[in-house]
Amino acid sequence: MSDQPPPIPPDKIPRHVAIIMDGNGRWARKRGLPRFAGHRAGMEAVRRVVARCGEVGVEVLTLFAFSSENWRRPQQEVGLLMDLFLTALKNEVKKLNRNNVRLYVAGARTGFSDKLQRSIDQAERLTAGNDGLNLVICANYGGRWDITQAARSLAEDAAAGRLDPGTIDERTVAERLALARFPEPDLFIRTGGEKRISNFLLWQLAYTELYFTDTLWPDFDVAAFDAALADYARRQRRFGRTGEQVAQGENA
Ligand code: FPP
Repeated sequence: MSDQPPPIPPDKIPRHVAIIMDGNGRWARKRGLPRFAGHRAGMEAVRRVVARCGEVGVEVLTLFAFSSENWRRPQQEVGLLMDLFLTALKNEVKKLNRNNVRLYVAGARTGFSDKLQRSIDQAERLTAGNDGLNLVICANYGGRWDITQAARSLAEDAAAGRLDPGTIDERTVAERLALARFPEPDLFIRTGGEKRISNFLLWQLAYTELYFTDTLWPDFDVAAFDAALADYARRQRRFGRTGEQVAQGENA
């Protein structure tokens, strides 16, 4: 944690930052440790970035903790990751609550054990009244899953006569996505050197600024996060308009 504010004007701080935390396994291998040691060290990086987001005024931080595809990993690693999530929920939630953080888990949570589902529900309920940082953990999440569940929910309403299919537009789809209550991410960060979206927030990243770094997630510290913020602050976001229109302050 750092007391130094980043040299960035508040209006250039992203409202929503979304992160793929990649490189835990390689971090561990470099040290001759089991992969799981990398995930545990990754937890430390989560703590640092959550604290920093609170300090600089980010409103929403979304972390890709476990993808729909991660079930394909060795059974032992999946089991240890589930234990880590459970322990993290048990140990961290009180502290998050004290820090006014609101926790929300996005994904197909019925894929998790009953115990883990109960812990998630309890953590969300405990922090529901907080109005500081929104911490969204994407777990058993996939961008295609998200769009599919939104489509299914619209189709069910249409079939039941509650919805006229002719009224379906981008807004009605967006309203059914898992992160509908939050603004779309302004800044996407992927650590670990790969340049892929890996089925993360496919719909929501349409206009997000993308930032890739070789730093492995457990090494991602406050300085590395501030560097991503500084890079974002230098970007010109156009949303389909010309650079001249943006410079003249034209909206929409
Ligand atoms: C990707 O690194 C990381 C994961 C699949 C798990 C992420 C989990 C954590 C950071 C810890 C817990 C987080 C929360 C929010 C409870 P990798 O294993 O693919 O690394 P590699 O590419 O080097 O093999």
